[in-house]
Amino acid sequence: MTLQAQSSSIEAIPGISLRPNEPLASHTSMGVGGPARWFIEVDERSALAPLLDLLRASRIPWVMLGGGANSIFSDEGFDGAVIHPGKGFRQIEATEHEHVIRAGAAATLSALMNFAKRRNLSGLEFCAGIPGTLGGALAGNAGAGGWDICTLADSVEVLDREGHPHTRKRGEFSFAYRISDLRNDVILAADLHLCPDTREAIVARIQKCLEKRGEQPIGERSSGCMFKNPPGEFAGRLIDRAGLKGHAVGGASISTEHANFMINDGKATATEILQLMDEVRSRVRSATGIELESEVRIFPAHPSA
Ligand code: EPU
Repeated sequence: MTLQAQSSSIEAIPGISLRPNEPLASHTSMGVGGPARWFIEVDERSALAPLLDLLRASRIPWVMLGGGANSIFSDEGFDGAVIHPGKGFRQIEATEHEHVIRAGAAATLSALMNFAKRRNLSGLEFCAGIPGTLGGALAGNAGAGGWDICTLADSVEVLDREGHPHTRKRGEFSFAYRISDLRNDVILAADLHLCPDTREAIVARIQKCLEKRGEQPIGERSSGCMFKNPPGEFAGRLIDRAGLKGHAVGGASISTEHANFMINDGKATATEILQLMDEVRSRVRSATGIELESEVRIFPAHPSA
């Protein structure tokens, strides 16, 4: 099938909008990356299974992209389909269980946190100031301050890579620090189990998280923390001790506020970010023998990832 014919078949699926050669820099918080052959926004759940069928039949590689807060694409871009869940996946609602809320994969963490706060439900305060969406957060088990999102999930609705629906209940998916096997599926929605608390206590915890965020370069182009904390250590401390704060490769630099953040000054390329990651890993390795592991997904796969 020609590229044109493939585009037409994708576009014919109801609930989909297709953008060919879409720059991925505009869809990731780091603000780097070349074009996707197709950027596909999916607004209806029913569109996903036929879309996955079509991509599989045409042997087109694809990846899911939520808020783009933890993904970096190379300067060559992605020669395939980048699938972005859109407005049909943003709902947040109460359930028959008064402490459980249900949300779609594209709901933002801040919208979720505020929804819970209004109902005097605690558990999502750690999301204060974390960019991104529920789907991306579950895929990478986002967290802060000892809390993480997968711990809260009672069940997660997914499609497997063949497009078959499953509800994966607690115990039927596995997760650990900044990793979950939910990333092998297409995450549609989840039920999050929260705890009742007073509004004052919830607001105070949100405030504390935001103060902590104040020590980080918020508002800059970045992917948040770049490396996972190694067991018993902190990536930020190791990078700082290696004397790398402010170190730059082209337009990419190590934040002077928090050493585990890399900043794009607006002109950085993905190549520069990756080179800086390699330098950080090698400097920390020679100083301490510790191998830093990326917290950020890199496409195509890179040794730092
Ligand atoms: N530190 C330094 N220099 C730095 C940064 C940190 O010496 O430049 C030291 C701090 O003094 C502290 C230790 O490293 O002793 C840990 O730093 P921090 O308290 O800032 O926490 P973190 O482990 O670096 C984690 C999460 C953040 C989250 C914060 C706050 C990871 C990789 N990072 O940071 O998450 O915001 O806790 O809860 O787990 C993210 O994942 O994108 C992210 C930003």
